[in-house]
Amino acid sequence: MNFHSAITSTILISFPCSAFAGEAASPSAYFGLLALGFLVLIQAIIILVLLKRRSSATNQVLESEGSQSNTRHQLYREIARHEATEELLRETQEYMQCMINSMPTVMIGITPDGYVTHWNHSAEKVSGLHAEEAMGSHINQAFPDLPVTNAVIAQTISSGIPYTRENIKEGSGSQTTFTNLTVYPLVSTDIHGAVVLAEDVTPRVRMENLLIQNEKMMGLGELAAGVAHEINNPLAAILNNVQNISRRSSLNFAANREVAESQGLELEQVVNYLEKREIPSFLESIRESGERAAQIVKNLLEFSRGNERDHRPNNLAVLIEQTLTLAQNTFELDTKFGTELPDFSTELDRKLPSVVCSAPEIQQVILNMLRNAAQAMRSEEYGPPLLPLITIRLYRHEENAVIEVEDNGPGMQDDVLKHVFEPFYTTKDVGKGTGLGLSVSYFIVKEHHQGAIEAESKPGKGTVFKIKLPLAKV
Ligand SMILES: Nc1ncnc2c1ncn2[C@@H]1O[C@H](COP(=O)(O)OP(=O)(O)O)[C@@H](O)[C@H]1O
Ligand SMILES: [Mg+2]
Repeated sequence: MNFHSAITSTILISFPCSAFAGEAASPSAYFGLLALGFLVLIQAIIILVLLKRRSSATNQVLESEGSQSNTRHQLYREIARHEATEELLRETQEYMQCMINSMPTVMIGITPDGYVTHWNHSAEKVSGLHAEEAMGSHINQAFPDLPVTNAVIAQTISSGIPYTRENIKEGSGSQTTFTNLTVYPLVSTDIHGAVVLAEDVTPRVRMENLLIQNEKMMGLGELAAGVAHEINNPLAAILNNVQNISRRSSLNFAANREVAESQGLELEQVVNYLEKREIPSFLESIRESGERAAQIVKNLLEFSRGNERDHRPNNLAVLIEQTLTLAQNTFELDTKFGTELPDFSTELDRKLPSVVCSAPEIQQVILNMLRNAAQAMRSEEYGPPLLPLITIRLYRHEENAVIEVEDNGPGMQDDVLKHVFEPFYTTKDVGKGTGLGLSVSYFIVKEHHQGAIEAESKPGKGTVFKIKLPLAKV
C-alpha cells in the first residue's frame, strides 16, 4: 500500500461522524471522545514512527546506492588495472617471443624427458619442421641431427652444469657444417626442463681451418724453398758435368782427338767402346732425371719469390683461351693421353674488367688445373671415360674475377681434398705426380696476387677449382 493513503485512511477511521454533530456531551460520549483522542494520539505516534522509518529507509537506500557506486568504481578501477597488467604481460611475452625467434641460434625448450616445449624460428629453418609439428614430440625425433640424449638432459638438470660440445661435424666436402651445442637446465623452482642451443659455426671453423692451412703452407713453403736452394747448386753441377762428359766424348771436338792420340788411342775406338757399354744412354738418363729435378726445384723456388713480378692489367678471357690452346697442344703431345682427349667447354664473361696479374703465372695455375683434370679423368679407377668434359668459366663475383675449372672426373675423397694444396701431396704413382702443381698454384694466387683458391669435390661427382682474383680498381 502507498504510504500517504495508509495515513489518510487511519484518520478517517478514527473520527466517527457523531462527534461533530453538535449534540450534548453525555459521559459515554465524553469517554468516547477521550478514546477518540487517544486513538488520534496513537495514530499520530504511528505516523511519526512510520515517517521516521521512511526517512531512515530512504537514507539507507541512498547510502547503499552511494556505497554501491563506490564499489562499482573500485571494480572498474580494478578491471582497468588488470587489463593494463594483462596488456603489459602480453607485450612482454611477445617481446620475449620475438627475441627468441629473432635469434640466429636454434633454441629449443624441452621437458626433463626431452619433449619439445619451445621451438624458435631458427629451429624451424634448420630442421624444416614447423613449431606446431615439433611441439610435444621428442627432440630426437624432431631434430635427429642433434646429439641430445635423455642421459645428457638428466645429467645437466641434476648437476646444474651446462653440457657443451663444440664443432660437431655434419656432411662432407663443401656441404660440411659445424655446430656448437649447449644444453643447460632451467633455473626455476617450479618449472623443470632444459634449453638446447645449437649454433651454426661453419663460417668461423672454415676460416680457422683456412688460417691453419695457410700457416702450414707458409711453413712448408719456406722449407721447400730452402731445400730447393740447397739442391740447386749440386744439381747444376750434375747437369754441367753430364754435358761436359758428352762433349769430351764427342767426335766433333779436335781437342778430344788430340788427347786420345796422345794416349795411343783412336777417338773412334774410345767412342765405340763407350757406345758398346751404353755410356751415352746412361748419361742421357742422368740428364733427363736431372732436368726433371731442376723443373721441380724451379717450382719450389716459386714459394720464395717475392711480389715484384711483371704484374699488368690482363683480359682474363683472352688469357684463358690462350691457355686452352696451349693445354690442347701439350695434351696432344702427351703420348700417354692417346686419343681420349677431354672436351673443353667455356663460359667466359668477356666484359669483365681487367685483372692486374702476371699472365704467365696465372696461365701456369690454369694449366696445372687442366692437367690435373685430364689426368684424373684418365685414371684407371675412373674406368672408360664417359664423355670427359672440362668446363672453364669466368665470371664476376663481388669485387673478384672468378675462374672455375670443373671436370666430370672421379672427384676426391674428403681426406684427399683437404691435403691437395700441400707441397708434395700426390696420389699419383712415383714419377707421375710431384704434388707441387696445386701448392705452387696456391702460392701464386694467394701470395703473388692476393687472391684465393679453393676446391670442391665429391667422389664420383667431379671436381671444381675456383680461383678468385681481385679486379683492378678503377
Ligand atoms: N681434378 C682433380 N680430380 C681429382 N683429383 C685431383 C684433381 N686435381 C688434383 N687432384 C688430386 O690432388 C693431388 C695433388 O695435385 P697436384 O698438387 O697437382 O699434384 P700432382 O698432380 O703432381 O699429384 C693429386 O695427386 C690428385 O690426387
Ligand atoms: Mg698436378
